[in-house]
Amino acid sequence: MDVKLLSGALGAEISGISLKDINKEIFNTVNELLLEHKVIFFRDQNITPEEQIRLAKFFGPIEEHAYVKGRDGYPEITRLIKGADEKNQWGEGWHSDVSFNIRPTKAVILKSIKIPPVGGDTVFSNMELAWETLHDSIKEKILNKSARHYSLGADSFIENFKHFESNGNNPKEYYNEHPIVRTHPDTGKKILYVNWMYTKTIVGMPKEESAYTLNKLFEHQSSLDFTCRFSWTENAVAIWDNRSVIHYAIADFFPGRGMGHERIMDRVAILGDEPY
Ligand code: SIN
Repeated sequence: MDVKLLSGALGAEISGISLKDINKEIFNTVNELLLEHKVIFFRDQNITPEEQIRLAKFFGPIEEHAYVKGRDGYPEITRLIKGADEKNQWGEGWHSDVSFNIRPTKAVILKSIKIPPVGGDTVFSNMELAWETLHDSIKEKILNKSARHYSLGADSFIENFKHFESNGNNPKEYYNEHPIVRTHPDTGKKILYVNWMYTKTIVGMPKEESAYTLNKLFEHQSSLDFTCRFSWTENAVAIWDNRSVIHYAIADFFPGRGMGHERIMDRVAILGDEPY
């Protein structure tokens, strides 16, 4: 096995492991790598949908997406399609997956099916580092506070994109409150748990102060110093610890470059715990 670090902050590309052959022993290694690096990447993994689902089940129960219908025959898999004529793609903007749920996603296994010749990288940012490096005065201000995470409603996941279908669940917006500083259930580390896409207010804080503080946190957590960037190739697999990273699917699809090409990914998510 070889582990190539992707930046000084987080992320590693792993070679010498076949995800096709996953068993308890290989899973333990993968899980240790995930906890250490927070996002791990594997290239040339020609796994079937069944193998992707099997891999996910080693981490825990599969999560159904709040709004989006799964693939025909594979309801556990959400197929993310950016059409050749689309500029925008799902997941552009900093976020932590479904942080608006009572039990947000634990981890995601994303497999690339079709990748444009250029563009569409994914960037991850380390929220343990984001917490550690915050100024003490902000740490004190947010330590025992909660924030509201809003689901934005079905439209923002479906109507804005050509290839997404509703799963028929309640299409309305809802919210849940989570501690702004959560504790990782496996490592005990503190994590900054807000994100630009879904976190809208700090509970019990005056509106203007809440907006100001959240903006400061969003600015801090997206510092390039905490990030790594993955350039996809087809049949690559990313596994991220959705509790301790935020991520951003870059929509840099411009004429003569990434525009005019499809980007297709298969996503399986694992249900997480209630943040504390
Ligand atoms: C996501 O935001 O969950 C998708 C990431 C990607 O497509 O790169």
